[in-house]
Amino acid sequence: MEVLIVENAAAAAMVGAGRVAELLAIKPNAVLGLATGSTSIAVYQELVSRYRRNHISFANVVTFNLDEYVGLISGSPQSYRSFMDRELFDHVDICIENTHFPACHPGDNPRLVGSEYEAKIIDAGGIDLQILGIGRNGHIGFNEPGSSLSSRTRIKTLTESTVHDNSRLFSENDFQPHLAMTMGIATILEARRTVLFATGKHKAAAVRDAIEGPLSARCQASALQLHERATFVLDEAAASLLEYKDYYQWANAENEALMREFGHFYELQGF
Ligand code: GLP
Repeated sequence: MEVLIVENAAAAAMVGAGRVAELLAIKPNAVLGLATGSTSIAVYQELVSRYRRNHISFANVVTFNLDEYVGLISGSPQSYRSFMDRELFDHVDICIENTHFPACHPGDNPRLVGSEYEAKIIDAGGIDLQILGIGRNGHIGFNEPGSSLSSRTRIKTLTESTVHDNSRLFSENDFQPHLAMTMGIATILEARRTVLFATGKHKAAAVRDAIEGPLSARCQASALQLHERATFVLDEAAASLLEYKDYYQWANAENEALMREFGHFYELQGF
């Protein structure tokens, strides 16, 4: 695992956008796995800014979002489709037909929606880079504590704490779903590379459990310990409970020196 600790959320966004840009430079038709949530907004803003400066293009990019609420009316501003339109897709040259969500409309069988989503990811060649956030309870996507670590895209019931955390995005009279479709942990682990962003003190315990805790269904993000190319990008506050914080910083300085000598890790490890 690569654990990058940066000063603040803006620096984390720069690292994140940099990773996407490096990938698109060598693979303009990359398949990106995307996340929603406040933490990812700064990364998308930085990507939009690089697009406006002609540094990157999404013209041939294909995307798969991690999750989508079940039960919202189509076009609802709280849907993750609307979130992505607002934060990224409306501002770049992406073809909207290339953007995918595990959307389960009224009358759809969630099992079929899940297996079709998995098939679409495979048809696209698999996810090259999966962006992730983390919930306070350690969830990634909407894989709540206790989810199988071998799970695939399916419908999940959200925990009370997740519903509470996300209630800030709904006004009092809005219907707030407690069901969502989400990629599973096995789906996420198949991405060729994962980058998880966490900022703020409120994420510190989940980050500690994910990186240094036991591999456990209690903290779903701990499954990333099994991934060969998982990166965590943390600000100081989110990294504050890590026992090996100093070691990660030292190891990263060593890695940078190695990359200067032997080339960048994308060149070394390929896609
Ligand atoms: C939601 C999403 C997750 C995201 C989490 C954290 O629950 N389903 O994918 O990681 O929110 O969001 P935030 O960045 O707003 O803390």
